[in-house]
Amino acid sequence: MRVRRTGWSAALVAGVLVAGAMGARAQDAAADAARIEAGGRLAVATDCLACHTAPKGGKPFAGGYAIASPLGDIVATNITPSKSAGIGDYTLEDFRRAVRQGLRKDGAHLYPAMPYTAYTQLSDDDTAALYAYFMHGVAPVDEKVPATSLPFPFNIRLSMVAWNALFLKDERFVPDPSKTDEVNRGAYLAQALAHCSTCHTPRNALMAEQDGKGFLSGGSVGPWFAPNITSDPVHGIGAWTEAELVQYLRTGRVTGKAQAAGPMAEAVEHSLQHLPEPDLKAIAVYLKQTPPVGGGEGTPRFGFGAASKSEVDWRGAKEGVDAGWRVFSGSCAQCHQENGGGTGNREYPSLFHNTATGADRPDNLVATILHGVDRTVAGRAHFMPAFGDAASYTDRLTDQEIADVSNYVLGRYGNPAVKVSAGDVRVLRAGGSPPFLAQVRPLIVPGLVVVLVALLCLVIRRVRAKSRRGSLEFRP
Ligand code: HEC
Ligand code: HEC
Ligand code: HEC
Repeated sequence: MRVRRTGWSAALVAGVLVAGAMGARAQDAAADAARIEAGGRLAVATDCLACHTAPKGGKPFAGGYAIASPLGDIVATNITPSKSAGIGDYTLEDFRRAVRQGLRKDGAHLYPAMPYTAYTQLSDDDTAALYAYFMHGVAPVDEKVPATSLPFPFNIRLSMVAWNALFLKDERFVPDPSKTDEVNRGAYLAQALAHCSTCHTPRNALMAEQDGKGFLSGGSVGPWFAPNITSDPVHGIGAWTEAELVQYLRTGRVTGKAQAAGPMAEAVEHSLQHLPEPDLKAIAVYLKQTPPVGGGEGTPRFGFGAASKSEVDWRGAKEGVDAGWRVFSGSCAQCHQENGGGTGNREYPSLFHNTATGADRPDNLVATILHGVDRTVAGRAHFMPAFGDAASYTDRLTDQEIADVSNYVLGRYGNPAVKVSAGDVRVLRAGGSPPFLAQVRPLIVPGLVVVLVALLCLVIRRVRAKSRRGSLEFRP
């Protein structure tokens, strides 16, 4: 996908260059070509492709990816320069309004599944370069995507006016003069371009990122949990070295610490692995100086567990067989080994000293078992089968089996204080616990009716009281 896209932009850039060299506008053309190329790099860093391309061979930026939100699926649109199906009619100003304020050209409001709350910080130069790239570096695709239809009342896009008034800080990034250039560069990359906070910051009842103190302190993304990545050494990434953070962002794996699956694997695959090393280092340096959230003593989530030493030890019971071991032995041990230590070459990681098993919540362990790992970096696939998905694997595990194997892994190799029930797995299999807004949706319509009836009663009583008073006054 990327290769094709790079091919197009390279061909286009070459075309622009050739045309420029022939004419008198050689310098202008070279400047345009440079801008388009810069826009292409920004499109990678902002990861527009991840959402705006249908999975499994969709045409680049032609849309059609239905992003599962707790309120329903929101379809990412076609943003190729097609005049009939894409954004070919957008002017630079239209484009800026869409990307930074969440407004479509026809004036309708976009849902914040499009991360304009982060992109709002993008500079004028960078939005202009992105625009040049989307108009001249991307091949138009004349195919419309299905329209998003959320259930009432979320289908009323105008409601986003109120939401934006509350939660959209329509401001560009301002460097902090008290910080180094590198920290500021990292902050701009993390906040405006790579929008780390859209996943790593907890959300409030109205699904907006929490302001202030909670920044980057961890948030749910469907069944996954994007952990605390503030500088706190226990709860965050304070005990990671800069080099480890850079390696994680570039490859999605650091031996003895963590692997990236789910949405983080997508961010690594489509975006972060392609960033230049100094940009990744700037992000790492920036993370290491964020205000720590969490505090207190304890073991960091990569610090738990050790290899099992004997068969009795790893079987989990002297007599009989631990239910979790039964699943582990059949479904996990061939890759992660009987003692949980993984393979020597680290292709199959150890399950101890692993943030997915040492965290204080089981989400990423259970989500990995349900959805597996499928991350291609530098042309190489890192793959673990999805045990929750009957279509892709014959060994589909039940909720109880996943709970059993999770408890086995947590007790032996991870954080033994964390326990998983079949009910927990059912919730995560269904996409994670729905946020407040989705939970109260069934109550919104009856709630509105109750409020209306109450208002009506109030008005009637007022009118009656008034007319009684009126008739009293008229009494002689
Ligand atoms: C996390 C997913 C995500 C990412 C990343 C993302 N978008 Fe979007 N975008 C969406 C969704 C979803 C919509 C449709 C929202 C709606 O219908 O309310 C959308 C809508 C748009 C629109 C409005 C198009 C129209 O007329 O319908 C534009 C323009 C756009 N995106 C541009 C971009 C650009 C440029 C980038 C990269 C800088 C980007 N998007 C990155 C999810 C994303
Ligand atoms: C689309 C959502 C999403 C975005 C965007 C995202 N992350 Fe993540 N991140 C996650 C999830 C989910 C995990 C857990 C992955 C796992 O354990 O398999 C994670 C894991 C991590 C980890 C490992 C933490 C640990 O203890 O295992 C680091 C470090 C990290 N992300 C940094 C970043 C940075 C920096 C950015 C922005 C440049 C970013 N992430 C953007 C979702 C996201
Ligand atoms: C076919 C080989 C294979 C099997 C079978 C397998 N895994 Fe994995 N597992 C992997 C690979 C590969 C990775 C990711 C390595 C990487 O990212 O570099 C992984 C990663 C993980 C992780 C870390 C994920 C994260 O997000 O940090 C956990 C936890 C895990 N596996 C648990 C299990 C459990 C439990 C089972 C059995 C139910 C299992 N695995 C079965 C190959 C396998």
